[in-house]
Amino acid sequence: MKAAVFHHPKKITADTVPDPTIMDQQDIILKVTSTAICGSDLHIYNGFIPQKRPFVMGHEFMGIVEEVGAGVKNLKRGDRVVVPFPISCGQCWFCEHHEPGHCMNSNDNYGPEGGLLEEKGGALFGYTDLYGGYNGGQAEYVRVPYADEGPRKISDALSDEQVLFLTDIFPTGYTGVVKAGIQPGDTVAIFGSGPVGLMAQKCAWLMGAGRVIALDYLDYRLDMARRVNNVDTINVTDEKEAIEKVRSMTGGRGADICIDAVGMEAKRSVLEKAANIIQGEMGSINALKMCCSAVRRGGKISVLGVYGMPYDNFPIGQLFDKGIQMWGGQAPVHNYIDDLIKHVEEGRIRLDDIITHRMPLSEVDKAYDIFNKKEDGCVKVILKP
Ligand SMILES: NC(=O)c1ccc[n+]([C@@H]2O[C@H](COP(=O)([O-])OP(=O)(O)OC[C@H]3O[C@@H](n4cnc5c(N)ncnc54)[C@H](O)[C@@H]3O)[C@@H](O)[C@H]2O)c1
Ligand SMILES: [Zn+2]
Ligand SMILES: [Zn+2]
Repeated sequence: MKAAVFHHPKKITADTVPDPTIMDQQDIILKVTSTAICGSDLHIYNGFIPQKRPFVMGHEFMGIVEEVGAGVKNLKRGDRVVVPFPISCGQCWFCEHHEPGHCMNSNDNYGPEGGLLEEKGGALFGYTDLYGGYNGGQAEYVRVPYADEGPRKISDALSDEQVLFLTDIFPTGYTGVVKAGIQPGDTVAIFGSGPVGLMAQKCAWLMGAGRVIALDYLDYRLDMARRVNNVDTINVTDEKEAIEKVRSMTGGRGADICIDAVGMEAKRSVLEKAANIIQGEMGSINALKMCCSAVRRGGKISVLGVYGMPYDNFPIGQLFDKGIQMWGGQAPVHNYIDDLIKHVEEGRIRLDDIITHRMPLSEVDKAYDIFNKKEDGCVKVILKP
């Protein structure tokens, strides 16, 4: 089959690889009908998350069940499903306690310490050997383990594009809003207006926000935020001025909720890049620091953007003085996906209006390049195997 294979940073190509096979009785093989590239894939593409051997990418995918393992109860050949990006066994302590992203069985590198490059939580599809080493779904076929836990059947009345983002970015945006304990009328400031930020904006409205503010330094992404989500926008090129704008929109207090939908690959100056090398750090916590400044005293921050390592200049003093609550992590997609499917089915939310590019899987190298460089007005790429 054809699949998007990571070779080394900046090299992902559509190659011919062996077809996946059933390896466990809980597996299914899915024929992928649509798949997308995520901002998280860029961390691998840019070498921020290491991967040594060639590997099939992709954790946002859906398709039709092709083959079913002997132990699978809920699915049969021909079912059309979307698949949550974390791989959850459904049986361990964490899965039983609704923490599917911290499954103890799906990833051999599972460990309680976390945060280090050697030790992680549960596995993710197509997300390096650190995260379980499962081949991903930017491919014609993919093996899906624990198939009674993850995949959800989807009505034929909905197109692939209407439901594909249930696999990751819609539940991720929703997680950011829900974990911050949103109250009706809250002002929610969302840093990063990429696919995750755009979904968080939609979810903030869905959950009763009074005002939603999108912040990014790319005007074309802020244009999309205004167009599809009817939010206020602030360009963060001048960071101090951007924070002042948030405060002036909130009676001088700051936003009730700030969401970091940027992560460690935030825009950095040449000086900051040099400091990185001296401090032995990769990337930056700039977006998170802006959240700490822009949030009001007693406010909440959700960290959706991915951070892979410790950073020394973390503003713990500010967090303490302002009494900020913070949550961060991979989205527990399994917890929310059934409710979110209903929101889509009943027309309360539209997800496909952020798609800017539809490309064949054979052009995956070009797709990664333009999404990474933020060229050609690119916001979200759908790949067709
Ligand atoms: N927690 C989860 O479960 C989960 C799921 C999916 C993605 N993610 C992560 O969410 C983050 C965003 O993903 P995406 O697909 O939207 O990626 P993306 O790269 O397309 O979007 C990031 C956006 O942040 C903007 N940005 C950069 N620096 C900024 C700053 N200082 N302030 C404001 N905006 C800034 C960029 O211009 C870009 O528009 C990534 O780190 C990704 O790994 C996490
Ligand atoms: Zn993702
Ligand atoms: Zn588990």
